[in-house]
Amino acid sequence: MGQNIPTQEAEFNQLLTELSKSETFETIGNMLEAWQELMSRYRCAIMEVETKFRVLNEQFSLLHERNPIENIKTRIKSPESIRKKMVKKGLMPMTLEAVEENIKDIAGIRVVCSFIDDIYMLADCLTSQDDITLLECKDYIKNPKDNGYRSLHLIVEAPIFLQNEKRNMKVEVQLRTNAMEFWATLEHRLRYKKDLPEDVLHSTSDGLYQCAKISAQLDEHMQQIRNAIEQ
Ligand code: GTP
Ligand code: MG
Repeated sequence: MGQNIPTQEAEFNQLLTELSKSETFETIGNMLEAWQELMSRYRCAIMEVETKFRVLNEQFSLLHERNPIENIKTRIKSPESIRKKMVKKGLMPMTLEAVEENIKDIAGIRVVCSFIDDIYMLADCLTSQDDITLLECKDYIKNPKDNGYRSLHLIVEAPIFLQNEKRNMKVEVQLRTNAMEFWATLEHRLRYKKDLPEDVLHSTSDGLYQCAKISAQLDEHMQQIRNAIEQ
C-alpha cells in the first residue's frame, strides 16, 4: 500500500532503468499484488451489498407477495477507467490510497425495480442498516439531468470482514426502474456514436430528452395504477 503505481510511460521507464532486473520483477510483482488485493476487497464489498438487497427482496416477497427488485447487475471499474478518472482529477502519479479515497465508483451495483416507490423504500432500508454509512446521495429522479437521465445514486460505505481485520469499502449503488434502465442503456449506446453531424446530434439529443419525459410519465402512471390496486 502507498506505493506509486507508475502508469505513465516515462515514469515507468525511469523506474525500470533504476532497478536491477530482479528488483524490477519484485517491485512490479508487489504492486500487482497490492492492486489485486484492493480489487478483491471491492469484489467482497459488492457481494455484501448485493446480499443485503437480495435479503430485502426475499423478506419483502414473503410479506407482500411481490418482488420489488427486477434484477441486480454488478461491475468493478476497469484499471484503465480508474486511471483515466485519476488523470481527470489531477491525481497522478496515483497511489492505492489515493485511488481508494477518491474513486468512489470502483465497486458498482445497479438495482432495477418495477416501481419508483420501491427505489426509495430499498434505499431507505439499505441506508438505515447500522453497518452502512451513506456518503453521498444524488437524486436524479426528483432532479433529472439536463439530458433527461433519471436514477437514484448512492455512495455508501460497507464493511467487509477479512481474516484479521474489518475494512470499510465504498460502493456506488444506482437504483432505477425498468423504464429508466431502458432509456439509460439506449442513450449510452447512442452517445458513443460520436461521428454524427451537429444537426443530427442536436435533434437526437432532443429526441432522447422527449423519450426520457415519456419514460418518466410511464413510471408515474404505473405507480398510480399500483397505488389504486393496493388501496
Ligand atoms: P462520473 O462517475 O465520472 O460519471 O461522475 P459523477 O460521479 O459525478 O457521476 P454521476 O453520479 O452523475 O453518474 C455516475 C454514473 O451514472 C455513470 O457512470 C453512469 O453509469 C450513470 N450516468 C450518469 N449520467 C448518465 C447519463 O446521462 N446517461 C447514462 N446512460 N448514464 C448516466
Ligand atoms: Mg460516479
